[in-house]
Amino acid sequence: MSEKWSLRCLKTDKQYSMDYQAPYSPDGGLLEVIPPASSKCGLDFSILDQRLISREKLDNSGVWRFREWILPLSEEEMVSRGEGNTNLYDSKYLSEVSDHDQLFFKHEGENPTGSFKDRGMCTATSMAKKFGFQAVACASTGNTSASMASFARVAGLRPLVFLPAGKIALGKISQALAYGATILEIQGSFDDALVEVQKSCEDLGIYLMNSINPFRLEGQKAIFFEILQQLNWKVPDWIVLPGGNLGNISAIGKAARELKNRGLISKLPRFCVVQAQGANPFFEMMEKGFDQLKAMEPETFATAIRIGNPVSWQKAFQVLRESDGLVLEVSESEIVEAKFHVDRSGIGAEPASCVSFAGLNQLKEKKLLKENELAVCILTGHLLKDPGANQWVQEESRAVKRMLLSEDAHERRIQIEKALQES
Ligand code: F0G
Repeated sequence: MSEKWSLRCLKTDKQYSMDYQAPYSPDGGLLEVIPPASSKCGLDFSILDQRLISREKLDNSGVWRFREWILPLSEEEMVSRGEGNTNLYDSKYLSEVSDHDQLFFKHEGENPTGSFKDRGMCTATSMAKKFGFQAVACASTGNTSASMASFARVAGLRPLVFLPAGKIALGKISQALAYGATILEIQGSFDDALVEVQKSCEDLGIYLMNSINPFRLEGQKAIFFEILQQLNWKVPDWIVLPGGNLGNISAIGKAARELKNRGLISKLPRFCVVQAQGANPFFEMMEKGFDQLKAMEPETFATAIRIGNPVSWQKAFQVLRESDGLVLEVSESEIVEAKFHVDRSGIGAEPASCVSFAGLNQLKEKKLLKENELAVCILTGHLLKDPGANQWVQEESRAVKRMLLSEDAHERRIQIEKALQES
């Protein structure tokens, strides 16, 4: 490590300057941002606690509050719309369901566009502007496109999104449309869309905003920083989160690693990545001890993580290895049940988010999560992202509370009394 920020190729270990703009190294390896070696980047926990009561715009961002740990940009270069600052909930109801007391839910669906993607988009659009790009593009299962479209508009950039046709939840595509993104649909999966967008970006000089982009992951690190601050700088024993393209686990794990390397925390949390059974290539790889990830045709009700060829698996693998972490797979019925409970708790989240609660229940059943251990489940997207799923899950559980009231006043009264008894 040097005294300057740099990019490192995961394949060859070669270093590049922070001006390097392509998503992969010339040798085709994933790139990772390396902060300066020695210093704490001038930031410590007490400064961060002071920033919580500041009125400065960047101190009020749940990403840029941690700016010295994120990217070496000037304050003018930092694009922001008040991202982050999401709640860390406890829930008596969900603790009872899982029979685990020390349980928190970090609700990343409370970001400006309703998912954790906003944290990475504020950093990636800052870099796109700094590099002088006019247009940005991504492939998406929905949330990335909604977030990118919003941040591109805030930064004055033109957004292009590549989507698998007919496979995006209503709430998400309506956001991309509203922000005026150009929508290019592909007959195929997210993985096919990702191949296409990479080609187009290279051919047409558009900046690629998927999580291959190392600067995007820098913003997503702030999820870990914020959890820590909300727990009064105590490291949780477990962090449980859904895995799709595996960018988020890579980012959060990197954040923990960097704080530990700086001596600011004394241990790493154990990370648990949870995949849907129908889109579980990372689970298969770890379970069967393959040394490479084998791509698959993905299918799951949790459309956000319907991904069969995750690009960041090498980074995710490193995080699990160093943190004594693991991958779980959950069935479709476990996802539906988890969503039923997360919604009923009054918190609510989109299907892919609830995969983390399904995973937590498995950790508990397998006795991997001990009674006195503190666990944080990350809820990645807002309840309103997938309105169809909300109704379907309640109907599926046969607990739906919805009926047409009779026009007859007496009948109506009987209906309402019955509903009250059943509620
Ligand atoms: N949860 C939600 C709600 C997501 O939208 C995603 C990914 C994930 C979890 C998985 O995160 O890919 O970093 O492992 N959504 C991307 C998208 C792929 O296009 O919106 P990951």
